[in-house]
Amino acid sequence: MSAPLSQADKDALVAAARAVQHRAYAPYSGFHVGAALLTRDGKVHCGVNVENASYPVGACAERIAIGAAFTAGDRDIIAVAVATDAPIPVMPCGMCSQALFEVSPELLVIASGAGDQRREVRVRDVLPFAYQGEGLTPVEPKSETTR
Ligand code: THU
Repeated sequence: MSAPLSQADKDALVAAARAVQHRAYAPYSGFHVGAALLTRDGKVHCGVNVENASYPVGACAERIAIGAAFTAGDRDIIAVAVATDAPIPVMPCGMCSQALFEVSPELLVIASGAGDQRREVRVRDVLPFAYQGEGLTPVEPKSETTR
């Protein structure tokens, strides 16, 4: 899937994020988020937000989805859909944008809010000054293959 995403591709990804949204564990905020990542070869990996009584321990749907994709051995990700019921489509938070930027700065973010109102933006435009490891001495190449 190297051509730009079609409207049908985007709708299907948003539908995948919507389909898991009800599984969010959000007893503290009541804000249910579903995320769906699309790989270049058409696979979809989902995540929901998972909150915790110790609030900072909670994790956003986007980072849970990244974990699911990487665990499945899928790192070539081209788009993410984020489904919420917010009146304005919700962009990934700063921490998730940083995590998504590492996956790909070109990643297309499709945010879907109440009534499936949408906003689309590249993750590099959500977090233009994402940290890219400046000052770190890499211990292994980022392109390390899945074992
Ligand atoms: N949340 C996400 O899962 N993704 C976002 O893009 C924004 C916020 C979650 C974190 C927390 O569980 C709840 O929404 C309220 O902030």
